[in-house]
Amino acid sequence: MPNHVIILAAGRGTRMRSARPKVLHRLAGLPLIEHVARAADPLRPERVGLVIGHRAEQVRAALAHRPSLAFARQDEQRGTGHALLQAEPLFAGRAGTLVVLSGDVPLIRPGTLERLVGTHEGAGAALTVLTAAVARPYGYGRIVRADGRLARIVEERHASASQRRLKEINGGIYALDLPALFDAVREIPPAGASNEIYLPDLVRIYRQRGRPVETVEVADPDEVRGINSQTELAEVKRIVRQTRNEELMAAGVTIEDPATTYVDMDVTVGPDTVIHPGVFLQGRTRVGARCELHAGVRIVDSTIGDDVTVRNHCVIQGATLADGAQVGPFAHLRSGAVIGEAAKVGNFVEIKKSSLGRGSKANHLSYLGDAAIGEGVNVGAGTITCNYDGKRKHPTTVGDRVFIGSGTQLVAPVTLGDDAYVGAGSCVTDDVPAGALAVARSRQVVKDGWNGRGEDAPGDGPDARPGQGR
Ligand code: UD1
Ligand code: CA
Repeated sequence: MPNHVIILAAGRGTRMRSARPKVLHRLAGLPLIEHVARAADPLRPERVGLVIGHRAEQVRAALAHRPSLAFARQDEQRGTGHALLQAEPLFAGRAGTLVVLSGDVPLIRPGTLERLVGTHEGAGAALTVLTAAVARPYGYGRIVRADGRLARIVEERHASASQRRLKEINGGIYALDLPALFDAVREIPPAGASNEIYLPDLVRIYRQRGRPVETVEVADPDEVRGINSQTELAEVKRIVRQTRNEELMAAGVTIEDPATTYVDMDVTVGPDTVIHPGVFLQGRTRVGARCELHAGVRIVDSTIGDDVTVRNHCVIQGATLADGAQVGPFAHLRSGAVIGEAAKVGNFVEIKKSSLGRGSKANHLSYLGDAAIGEGVNVGAGTITCNYDGKRKHPTTVGDRVFIGSGTQLVAPVTLGDDAYVGAGSCVTDDVPAGALAVARSRQVVKDGWNGRGEDAPGDGPDARPGQGR
């Protein structure tokens, strides 16, 4: 029998008290809704639909990378049953099992969905409800059983005191038999003052008609944690964080403090890499083997080779670091920074859209933007590429084995040939040929006795120590 999936995601998420649609809140780098969609992928559903409503276009845009997804609109949010009805046209003329998922229940695992479908089809049920036994059932629909069998589901706000004590809850995930379900949903009477159509009331409808209704209990109740508030989001984040860290440790990564290590879903880390406390690995970051990531580092959408050291408090975003590179402390590598093999970037260095060749060093207090820097180059302390003229960005090109003295400004566009040398404190506006020395600064003036306190008085103007490149 073919499977189909529908994800309910039209709700306002009022309890989040947030302008952002609930299903677009992020969990380990992905929107909640993407977690749910990924859980359904291994079912290989024939059709996957999504019911959207509140800020529908924003939700649709966040799923643009899933072109086969079909959308249904629920313009007025009149409950989960009403939401499902809006999806009826998506499944017209289709048979088989429809799995209903909640956009705000992101930890559900593919294996559990497979078990749900298996039980549902094995029992020939009309409806199978995924349930969980939880310690704190507050807020969930309660599973009310009669003679051990599911009789009805009672929502928190309509439950009696004794029903509220029931610990078995409705996970908000169901397997349903197409195509009969839509006619049955239409029979659900509106509930409460809000006149909402509650999908869980389908249990009662099917029971009245004598249609078989089943339940499947999840082994791990965390799988059906729903996110309705910021607190619940934070709790689920903690669970995901722990799971991710355990996966990495099982693959040979050393994590000094899992409680403060934040690794997004799509990040990979190689074995024998050591992660110190307070590290964030985000987006599509890939970290190689035997790296050392010191405390307070944030790496986003970057590729880090093997044997790389990132010292404390670096921010690395959209960058590539080759094997053996050393960065930090306090370095800022921005998008398009490419750090070559065994190259070194030191404290208070910012690099944007620039490459630093193999074995090159920029060890202190520099800004390198739109620069292509060769191999074995020494970028002196305080070197600045002046890449912006107020309107446009211009490139700087530096050959191999170039020595740039401290406090140099490279006014782009400018090129320094291989083996060139730049004297400290230079403002380089013209190209420097290969092997040449450029000194671009005014000559020092020494005015003897200028201070008027006698020849031997201390502090007689700047002292003329020999500097680099003199
Ligand atoms: C729902 C169940 C509850 C279950 C819990 C599990 C109902 C009435 N109650 O409660 O039994 O224990 O989930 O997490 O179903 N949605 C729409 N349109 C709407 C209303 C909701 O698309 O008009 C979507 C929401 O975007 C959300 C999902 O359905 O993704 C669940 O809605 P929510 O309001 O969070 O239901 P709960 O109160 O959590
Ligand atoms: Ca919910």
